[in-house]
Amino acid sequence: MTQHLLAIDQGTTSSRSIVFADDGSIIAMSQQEFTQHYPKDGWVEHQPDDIWNSVTHTLRDVLQKSQIDAGDIAALGITNQRETTLVWDKHTGATVYPAIVWQDRRTAPYCRELSQNEQLVNYITDNTGLLLDPYFSATKLNWILNNVEGARARAEAGELLFGTVDTYLIWKLTDGASHKTDATNASRTMLFNIHTQQWDTELLKAFDIPAAMLPEVMDCAADFGNTSAELTGKRIPISGVAGDQQAALIGQACFEKGMAKSTYGTGCFMILNTGDTPLVSKNRLLTTVGYRLNGHTTYALEGSIFMAGATVQWLRDGLKLIDNAAETEALAARAREDNGVYLVPAFTGLGAPYWDPDARGAMLGLTRDTGINEIVAAGLQSVCYQTKDLQKAMESDGARPVSLRVDGGMANNDWVMGFLADILGAEVKRPAVTETTAVGAAFLAGLQQGIFTDLDTLTQCWQCDSVFEPRLTKAQRDTAYAGWQEAVTRIRCS
Ligand code: G3P
Repeated sequence: MTQHLLAIDQGTTSSRSIVFADDGSIIAMSQQEFTQHYPKDGWVEHQPDDIWNSVTHTLRDVLQKSQIDAGDIAALGITNQRETTLVWDKHTGATVYPAIVWQDRRTAPYCRELSQNEQLVNYITDNTGLLLDPYFSATKLNWILNNVEGARARAEAGELLFGTVDTYLIWKLTDGASHKTDATNASRTMLFNIHTQQWDTELLKAFDIPAAMLPEVMDCAADFGNTSAELTGKRIPISGVAGDQQAALIGQACFEKGMAKSTYGTGCFMILNTGDTPLVSKNRLLTTVGYRLNGHTTYALEGSIFMAGATVQWLRDGLKLIDNAAETEALAARAREDNGVYLVPAFTGLGAPYWDPDARGAMLGLTRDTGINEIVAAGLQSVCYQTKDLQKAMESDGARPVSLRVDGGMANNDWVMGFLADILGAEVKRPAVTETTAVGAAFLAGLQQGIFTDLDTLTQCWQCDSVFEPRLTKAQRDTAYAGWQEAVTRIRCS
């Protein structure tokens, strides 16, 4: 009999629940968006109830749609937006403040102040693999403890718990019975030592965080507790957890050193499996936990681009050049080749490898015959050029990706994927199932239950849908990329 797996994918703008068959194919899916809150310039918050209600709504909905009884679900996997920070009362579950989202920049002044301490900056990079930046959970948690009345005293008295979204969901799903996270989510807090795989006492001291607030860190496939029967009808074991980008690495079956995946959502996150080695980047990429299974850590190198799908949103909502994202494919195909137009989408600064928060966007190379087609093409190409920047950074760190697997909304745009292969000078592979984050969570849950015996079994479940081969000559590729580099140089501030 087919065994079913359930995955929750709690993302930045929506929550999804998906029921999978044991070969990784999708049986039913439910999705719900929720409200984003921007209370001040640079602040981004989510209401914890919105997160929770959207998750429970999609869970019930998907069980109903799939017509599968909760008793026939072998296990549940969770994947989630990473770094987003929550604090709640250990007895009542009441959160003390909204979730501070990974995009939130309110702790930038605190980070600037801490960056004067060179020893601390180096300690952070050496032990967490991250850069001192508001992106990660540590300074957000410090902000809550220092700014919410009574929070620090309650945390010190052991009354408050901290968690990223996975931990919050596990705690709620198990009715407060389980306060746990997995090593991938822990590795994004800036409080976790990726070498010892323990919370780092030096960093807890530096960021003034009481250790009692922290969840237990588990392997990605482990026993995280059972859902309450009241919620799902019958108790379902939660047995797989990973942050969404790492879950995509698993869902894409990138289990060999040198394999990489790029997920094109609002932004783009490229992750390269570096095997047993926590490779330290000289190009401001992040060293992170790719996954931890049976106590064994596989490391990864990660580069993040802020504007991928968001650039297309800007073409649609800002410039009103298109009505929907799907139109871009035909428009870009009609653009004049070699038109020399470059769009640098540094609307909120530049991410890896530049980390230039003050840079702003620009369009260069416009001529009298530049039209909508060329501007749309330049917007799409900017995503590919930025992926090339990451590929180059990885390469100069001594870790050239041997192959690239793509997923996320933009991966369905053949024109973009063709140009990506052209500009990378490498093969780009798109899987049949592009819901790879949820697939990764389901894979992990299935591994723990013995539905999948090992990683080789998961590799066999991965099916390729399309392969995009590079068509440009090296000279053409180098000329196009040199134009991009020149455009980036013109807008950089640091
Ligand atoms: O690090 C942030 C990342 O995990 C968010 O992913 O897909 O929810 O935007 P997404």
